[in-house]
Amino acid sequence: MSQFALIVAHDRRRAIGRDGRMPWHLPDDLRHFRALTLGGVVLMGRRTFDSLGKPLAGRENWVLTRDPAWSAPGVRVLHAWEDVRGAAAQAQLWVIGGGEVYRLALADATRIESTEIDTEVAGADTWFPAIGTSAWVELAREAHAADARHAHAFEFVSRMRRA
Ligand SMILES: NC(=O)c1ccc[n+]([C@@H]2O[C@H](COP(=O)([O-])OP(=O)(O)OC[C@H]3O[C@@H](n4cnc5c(N)ncnc54)[C@H](OP(=O)(O)O)[C@@H]3O)[C@@H](O)[C@H]2O)c1
Repeated sequence: MSQFALIVAHDRRRAIGRDGRMPWHLPDDLRHFRALTLGGVVLMGRRTFDSLGKPLAGRENWVLTRDPAWSAPGVRVLHAWEDVRGAAAQAQLWVIGGGEVYRLALADATRIESTEIDTEVAGADTWFPAIGTSAWVELAREAHAADARHAHAFEFVSRMRRA
């Protein structure tokens, strides 16, 4: 069976983006994201790929798009969620966003790695879905204070789907 893990950074209201970008810069969160996903398969929506501009190094990059003509060097292109499920059989796959793809993936997800950021972004336009906390067990929570490099405090939270 495929194992889908969602990895996301969101604010107190579950905002994840504004104007096609992530509305914060938290170097230790980027380091955390890299450590977890390195060597694995990352799946993203075409708009998130556009915001990155190139594949993530050291990972197999999959992009979901409805456009049959779309391609990018170093990227595996998929055109429907069923194709992702088929391609991911036996694989551990990191779903890295954005909002549309998190909503598609949530029902199949068995693990969520969240960075919960202690801020409320003004003008946010993209959101992580409500997960329904009764379906999930919180396994770990690690707090990080704001500092000279991090404008906001944040917590790394690991959740597994309740059996
Ligand atoms: N904070 C975080 O952790 C985080 C993580 C990732 C992204 N983000 C932010 O999220 C925003 C982007 O998210 P988004 O919701 O706008 O877009 P997205 O989920 O990245 O990509 C949406 C695109 O995926 C394709 N797609 C969606 N459903 C599909 C389906 N069923 N079958 C085939 N293709 C499908 C479509 O591509 P086509 O239009 O090409 O058909 C659609 O336009 C940005 O602001 C980004 O910075 C934040």
